[in-house]
Amino acid sequence: MHVDLNTKPAVEAFFDPVSSTISYVVQDPASNACAVVDSVLDLDYASGRIKTESADRMIAFIKDNDLDLQWIIETHVHADHLSAAPYLQQRAGGKIGIGHNITVVQEVFGKVFNEGTEFQRDGSQFDALFSDGDSFHIGQLRGDVMHTPGHTPACMTHVMGDAAFVGDTLFMPDGGSARCDFPGGSAEELYDSIQRILALPDVRSRGRLRFVMRSLRTFTWATARPRPSLSNSAPRGMHSFPCQS
Ligand SMILES: [Fe+2]
Repeated sequence: MHVDLNTKPAVEAFFDPVSSTISYVVQDPASNACAVVDSVLDLDYASGRIKTESADRMIAFIKDNDLDLQWIIETHVHADHLSAAPYLQQRAGGKIGIGHNITVVQEVFGKVFNEGTEFQRDGSQFDALFSDGDSFHIGQLRGDVMHTPGHTPACMTHVMGDAAFVGDTLFMPDGGSARCDFPGGSAEELYDSIQRILALPDVRSRGRLRFVMRSLRTFTWATARPRPSLSNSAPRGMHSFPCQS
């Protein structure tokens, strides 16, 4: 797995208080290229109406800073919010990418919700279906993709420079690791995925890789560096991460 710890992309976080979702704009330090990770549409549960205020804030940030949106990345399919990826793409461009096992998730939920054959289950709604080991570029910033299933079959960790977007596979210390009770979830796979993340270069030694992760119980988020002594000694299935905001 390619990890470039000397390239440090700027990461701007956007918080949606209704779903507690954190979305990110990642900027290539060498150009004006950027990517959006895990965008969100606003959902008013009382009325069932969808709004685009959160997505519009990100679009305004991209335009105000003269950024070129090249990728719209989903770390996984989210059960707690709707993605704004198509809305962002229509207004700011970029390619939408997700893990190749989205087809597994689509098949499962197509049956659960009794969707007809008009609901495509081949991932054709996305521009790119990433497999483990794939890479892509945001300007000169290279992104590398690692399949980290467990929370969902399609979960991917994206490493861009010294920042690892772990999605819901790992949370800040108040949350720990992801839930695995969604259809297709697996605690065993999640454990193996976390071990792969902790085995990324430098994590267990100097901890220079930033984990971009969110809290579950407080409305905060951080880029966190795992403390090597803890990640080495933590009991099976439990990991502690001191956070730097
Ligand atoms: Fe999730």
